[in-house]
Amino acid sequence: MLGLYIHIPFCKKKCFYCDFVSIPYVEELADNYLIALEKEAQKYKGEWIDTVYIGGGTPSTLTIKQQIKLASVINSTFNVSNCKEITVELNPESTTKEKLKLLFDARVTRLSFGLQSIYDQSLTVLGRLHNYEKFKQAYYDARETGFDNINIDLMYGIPNQTLNSWKKTLKEVLKLDSQHISLYPLTVEPNTPFYKKKIEPNGDLQAKMYEFACEFLKENGFEHYEISNWAKEKKYSLHNRLYWKNKKYIGLGTSASSYYKRYRYKNNTNVIKYIENVLSNKNIVIDKEFITDDLYIKETIMLGLRLAEGVNIKYFENCKDVLNKHVVNGMLAVENNRVKFTQKALFVSNSILSDFI
Ligand SMILES: C[S@@+](CC[C@H](N)C(=O)[O-])C[C@H]1O[C@@H](n2cnc3c(N)ncnc32)[C@H](O)[C@@H]1O
Ligand code: SF4
Repeated sequence: MLGLYIHIPFCKKKCFYCDFVSIPYVEELADNYLIALEKEAQKYKGEWIDTVYIGGGTPSTLTIKQQIKLASVINSTFNVSNCKEITVELNPESTTKEKLKLLFDARVTRLSFGLQSIYDQSLTVLGRLHNYEKFKQAYYDARETGFDNINIDLMYGIPNQTLNSWKKTLKEVLKLDSQHISLYPLTVEPNTPFYKKKIEPNGDLQAKMYEFACEFLKENGFEHYEISNWAKEKKYSLHNRLYWKNKKYIGLGTSASSYYKRYRYKNNTNVIKYIENVLSNKNIVIDKEFITDDLYIKETIMLGLRLAEGVNIKYFENCKDVLNKHVVNGMLAVENNRVKFTQKALFVSNSILSDFI
């Protein structure tokens, strides 16, 4: 299994909470970026790809012409005839019927929309450029175009959000009948406007919101297959599942990571530097690590425990004490030779995972 991730580092405007690598969209810069992507991709020419994920930033900021160029870079460089999934992230604000049709015709199989909230007031607080009406329009346009595998991202712990408004959000989103939902607790990252404004999400409230979501989505036919992800009809994100199962992937673009031939790489996070360096044949890798057997086992545990299916117990041979500690305190359970989080551990999973480092 080999995945392909392509980072598109452009957004129309930066949201107040976001520290993903993205800068304001400028057409000429995006054209140069695609030329650099094409050149970087040559390193992997002919590789057979199982899943593609085009993320960002906001891939939907690209013009039709630029999307055609991106599709041609993928199709002319890689072997995608056995590809099982192609996902594209969209912001409702830059989604048009024309772009959706193009993606559908380019054999994109899955869309992921950033919605965050159904309340226009919250969307304004977050610095989003769309309202709920615009999201619904983009979403139903996607359905009408023929997409039948759509994810919706929501955030919880938004300033002024209450448990009640969160419950209403989930009830409303359920009516949209999407196949997949991702729920993220708002995290306040350094160097964001939210950080400067000293916004502090209420962790106890976020825990209650998460608990409600787990029960509510289960009652309504969603499978909780990963800590932050729910799917209907087994429409899991195959690409993300490949990360959680510690499989190999190629990452193209600024800030992209790769796990390829036993090395993990990370690319330069500065968009301009990335373009300049690729085009002048200079180094774009800022981090490179050889994955030893020991590291592979640790990563397999840390990534795999995020999945409801858990991790084979054979990987815990060298950390039986940590495993036993968390089985005794009720955070991990062993069933049919697989180690899994218990329900109560899911919201605090990060602190448990860090014990396995
Ligand atoms: C790349 S964006 C999705 C596509 C598009 N850029 C958009 O925002 O509509 C990835 C998702 O990460 C989540 N996210 C980003 N920053 C976050 C933060 N600080 N806390 C929680 N979730 C965050 C949001 O739900 C967002 O939709
Ligand atoms: S959340 Fe999405 S649209 Fe907003 S700044 Fe981050 S990547 Fe861009």
